[in-house]
Amino acid sequence: MTAQAIEVFAPAKINLTLHVTGQRADGYHLLDSLVMFADVGDRVTVARASEMSLRVTGPMAAGVPDDARNLCWKAAEAFGEPVAITLDKHLPAAAGIGGGSSDAAAVLRGMEQLFGRPSGVHLPDLGADVPVCMLAHAARMQGIGEEVLPLDMAPFHAVLVNPGVEVSTPAVFRVLGCKDNAPMTPMAETGMPLAALNWLASQRNDLQPPAIMVKPVIAEVLDALAALKGARLARMSGSGATCFALFDTRAAADGAAITLSSAHPEWWVRPATLR
Ligand code: C5P
Repeated sequence: MTAQAIEVFAPAKINLTLHVTGQRADGYHLLDSLVMFADVGDRVTVARASEMSLRVTGPMAAGVPDDARNLCWKAAEAFGEPVAITLDKHLPAAAGIGGGSSDAAAVLRGMEQLFGRPSGVHLPDLGADVPVCMLAHAARMQGIGEEVLPLDMAPFHAVLVNPGVEVSTPAVFRVLGCKDNAPMTPMAETGMPLAALNWLASQRNDLQPPAIMVKPVIAEVLDALAALKGARLARMSGSGATCFALFDTRAAADGAAITLSSAHPEWWVRPATLR
C-alpha cells in the first residue's frame, strides 16, 4: 500500500481593514477586520507517519523552524496524530499575511481529509488568525479573531509588497496609542466592486501608524504602491510589513507588479486576486 499524501494550498491572508476596538483584561485586543485570501501562498503536504517530521522547502524556507516551534507542527500535535509534513514556503514570514496561521490551518484541513474526522482543535489556541485561515474565504473577523462571519465579496485585484523586514506583532500593539477605535461602518454592497472599494477607502488599518513607527520603510512601500498607475487604494495588512494596492483589473495589477519589481528588485512583489 502506498502512503497517501494530501496537498493543501495555504493562501496569504489579507486584512483589507483592521480596526482595533478595545483591549481585554488579558491584554489581547478586540478587532474588527475584513479578511480575504490571495491566490498566492504556501503549499503544505501531510502524510501518515510513525513519528512527527517537518521538512521546509521553497524560496522562503530560510530561517523557518522545522521542529516543534513551527505552528504546522503544533497544529498536527493538537490534532493528535503523527504526520510527515512538507511545507513549501513562498510567503515571507512575520509579514502580516498570516503565513504561519494559514500553514497551520492547511495542516488541519489536510489531516481532516487524511484521517476522515474533524480536527476538534480549539483553533484560537493556535493563534488569533487560525480560525479565519481555516475558513479560507472572505470574512468579517471580530473578537480577538475567534468570531468569523463568512461574507459574499466581489474579488479584488491587488499587488502585494513586502520590503523584506520582519515585524513583531506584539511590538506594534505596544506602540499603538488608542485601543478604543470605532468599528467598521456598515458594509455597502460588498458584491459590487466599486461600492466595496469606496466603502473600503473610508475604513482603516489601525495598526498601520504604529507599524510605520516600528519599521519606517512601510511608509515608503505605501507611497510606492499609491503612485502605481491604476492603484485605487494602498494599505497595510495585519501588523505589517506587507502592504497591498487594489486595481480594477488583474491585468492592471500584473502590469503594476512588473513596474514595481523593476524599481525595487529587493522587495517581494506579487500580483494577486483576493477572494
Ligand atoms: O495570536 P497570535 O500568535 O497571532 O498573536 C500574536 C500576538 O499579537 C499576541 O501575543 C498578542 O500580543 C498580539 N495580539 C493581540 N490581540 C489579538 C491578536 C494578537 O494583542 N487579537
